[in-house]
Amino acid sequence: MEKFIINQALDMHLHLRDDDMLKLVAHMTSNGFCGALIMPNILPPITTKKDLLSYKKRIKEACKDDKFEPFMTVFFQVDYSYEFLEDIKDEIIAVKLYPFGVTTNSQTGVSSMDVEVLRPTLESMSKLGIPLCVHGETKGFVMDREKEFLPIYESLAINFPKLKIIMEHISSKESISLLEKYDNLYATITVHHLMLTLDDVAGGMLNPHIFCKPIVKRPEDREALLKLALNAHPKVMFGSDSAPHQKNTKECHHGAAGIFSSPILLQVLTQLFEKNGKLDNLNAFISLNAQKIYDLKPLGKEVVLVKKDFIVPKEYSYRNEKVVPLFEGQTLSWSIDKIIQEKTK
Ligand code: NCD
Ligand code: ZN
Repeated sequence: MEKFIINQALDMHLHLRDDDMLKLVAHMTSNGFCGALIMPNILPPITTKKDLLSYKKRIKEACKDDKFEPFMTVFFQVDYSYEFLEDIKDEIIAVKLYPFGVTTNSQTGVSSMDVEVLRPTLESMSKLGIPLCVHGETKGFVMDREKEFLPIYESLAINFPKLKIIMEHISSKESISLLEKYDNLYATITVHHLMLTLDDVAGGMLNPHIFCKPIVKRPEDREALLKLALNAHPKVMFGSDSAPHQKNTKECHHGAAGIFSSPILLQVLTQLFEKNGKLDNLNAFISLNAQKIYDLKPLGKEVVLVKKDFIVPKEYSYRNEKVVPLFEGQTLSWSIDKIIQEKTK
């Protein structure tokens, strides 16, 4: 097959940042995707309606594309009242919970994952039908942090059976059986967790550009996640976790966690699904599953990909911002040929 069409692509986990970085990266998603779930971990994090609406406006201005919908989130706080959540309900798609200190900009995350501490907020969300997105990692040994968090996911799933809980960027094979065990658990998967292992980060020369949280893991983890994605498991959606950081904050001592992947996602996913003979499932993985899970009606947008080499740029820049994309300098076998904007469906 020489041509493939991706219809209404959705990126259900995306960091767009702010200011010049936002201006640099926003259109890389809005070009090919018709919607994305925007993470609230800018500084300061999004915790008020005023900040939420003004961030959404900045995103829309940076995208310059009225066929792109930023699905907004707020940063979980234990003291969100029912009234506050009710007031912002129509402006958000979910609330994102970060445990304290587990990843970039999570210093204001929750300090206790005790169900009773979280109960008032989660019960309000449950009543209002607001999904909960979770960065599921403990502070344990770096390769085991997600696995160690699974009992917490389980107790959330049991205690709040009506709450939709999204296990963000799953990275360990152990997460899959839990996902399948509870009706109210769902998951996002990134491109990097489908394609990389720790060997790529640290097996040879150190590659800081593919250092992220949760860290990419063992070949058996990657294979298990790949199987789930290639079969477009209905509880799983695509979420890139594209998380741009200034080049000099990656290539340094105390380098930042986060992989910038937005400009290459559609090409890489097409290549990966084609290589595995599963192109027929790609539209479900990248759009239909998320539409069902989040009950979305995305705006129309078709991306036509053709089998033609695409050399990934070594970096992208705007004013003082410089970012290095995943697979920089490598040749991908699919390119974006054209993008067809449709009328709202
Ligand atoms: C993300 C970031 O940079 O904001 N970093 C990352 O390594 N994935 C935060 C996150 O999603 O953990
Ligand atoms: Zn993220």
